[in-house]
Parts: sequence; structure tokens; C-alpha cells
Amino acid sequence: MDKNKKSVIVLVGSSAEKNSNTGKLCVTFLDELKKSAYSQGSLIQSEILYPSDWNIMPCRSCGTCFRKGFCPLDQKDGMAMLKNKIRKSDGIIFASPVYAAAVSGDMKILVDRLAGWLHTMPLIGKTAGVFSTADSNNGDAVTSYLNKMVGLMGASIVISQNVFIHFGTLLLKDDELLNSVLKEGAVKFWEGMGGKLEYNLEQEEYFHIQNLRFHKLLEIEQQYPGLSFGEKRIWEEQGYFKYNSLQEVIREKNI
Ligand SMILES: Cc1cc2nc3c(=O)[nH]c(=O)nc-3n(C[C@H](O)[C@H](O)[C@H](O)COP(=O)(O)O)c2cc1C
Repeated sequence: MDKNKKSVIVLVGSSAEKNSNTGKLCVTFLDELKKSAYSQGSLIQSEILYPSDWNIMPCRSCGTCFRKGFCPLDQKDGMAMLKNKIRKSDGIIFASPVYAAAVSGDMKILVDRLAGWLHTMPLIGKTAGVFSTADSNNGDAVTSYLNKMVGLMGASIVISQNVFIHFGTLLLKDDELLNSVLKEGAVKFWEGMGGKLEYNLEQEEYFHIQNLRFHKLLEIEQQYPGLSFGEKRIWEEQGYFKYNSLQEVIREKNI
């Protein structure tokens, strides 16, 4: 890992692009993150991506990701590219506006297409942040949903923040307060990418359950030659079979 250069991918589930409140919030956060890195003589390479630009198709519920470990749609839209960028990044941000009391359709489609990652946990070792913007309500519904999803994919989430446009505790237009909250988050994000990862009990338990499940599938494969489970192969390729806990993966792999 190059200590002096980190890459961050930001996924914004809004089609408003240049006018997106959520996009603006992410730009402000990235500015703070870049300042944090720069003060330590380091650089952040970042990219803000709007899934709507990549024509991400809705999941068709074929179950191939769960059974075989890949999505047949990935080569037909921008998903292979997005996944590749996320995999190569040191840090990821998932950000969504609140639409009708929930995540935006763009963000939900993206998360559904990443559902295989909820089993294989490829984001272990990566630092993450989740953001939402709302006029006045349900910001928590969105951040807690994204928190759960990104956490179960294995990322260490160091900032989870909803910001309001008209009424609420933290407003997008309240530059001073917003900058101080984001600055604090940026410092933690920077430290996370430097190796200070935080995991909660739910993530540990989830790793444990997946590990047991994949050991079982391994046994079945050994009993019935010819059988091959796609997700189990990914668990193996990621090197997770060697470990008994998430903390052990981090420690031993020296992520
Ligand atoms: C279809 C739609 C539904 C919305 N529903 C809510 C809502 O339930 N609660 C709320 O506080 N704001 C709601 N809003 C306001 C947006 O959450 C808010 O303006 C947000 O900052 C938009 O982000 P964006 O510019 O990145 O798309 C809604 C906006 C749209 C377009």
C-alpha cells in the first residue's frame, strides 16, 4: 500500500449530477479529505461516479451471483467497470438523496447489483463513508440502510452522516458547522485508509456466519466431485478460509 497516495471512489445515487445536493456534499467532504492528506504530505486521487451515467440495469433475480459468483449483466452495462474501480480503491463513499423516505432508485439498483458482495465481503480492509441528503426527514433511514449494506460487504465505516436542505440538525447551507463535522470525518477516513479500521459486532458475527457457510460448501464439494460453488470460490480466492475472524483477516493480511 502506497502510504503517500490513496484512491477514493464516490458513488452518488442521484441523477441531478452538477445540481445534485448529494454530489455537492461529497465534493465538500473530498475537499476536507484532501486537506487532511495534504497536511501529512500525501495525496488523494478521487473520482465521483453517478451510476445513472453507466446505465446500470436493475437486478433480474436470476440468482447467478449467489450460485455462480458473477452477474451476467455486468458485461452489458457499466457494472463491471464500477466494481473494478471499487475493488481497486482504498476508500469508498456511498451517497444517496432521500427519495420518498428511502434511498434513491439509482442507489437501490446499485446495491441490488452488488448483493453478491453481501456474502463474499470483498470490501474488508477498505474504509467507507455513507452520506444522505434530504429536505427535512428520513435521512437516518437512508444512512442506516447504507451503513448496513456497506458494512456487511466488509468495509470499515468511519463516517455516516445525513444532511438536510431545509429543516434539520445539520444543514447543507450551514458551511461552518458542516465543514467542522466533515473535517472530523475526513480525519477518521484518512486514518482508516492508513490502517486504523473499525468493525462492529454485527460485522464480526456476519463474517463468522459466512465463514461457517463456506466451510460447509467446501465439505459438500469434497464429497461430491464435480460440484462447484461460485461464491465459495471467491471466498477462497480472497484468502478468507485461513481466518477465524474479521479481525484476524485484517491483522494477518496486514491490510
Ligand atoms: C422524488 C423525490 C422524493 C423526495 N422525497 C423526500 C422525502 O421523503 N423526504 C425528504 O426530506 N426529502 C425528500 N426529497 C428531497 C430530496 O431528498 C433532497 O432535495 C435531496 O437533497 C436531493 O438530492 P439530489 O439533489 O442529490 O438528488 C425528495 C426529492 C425527490 C426528487
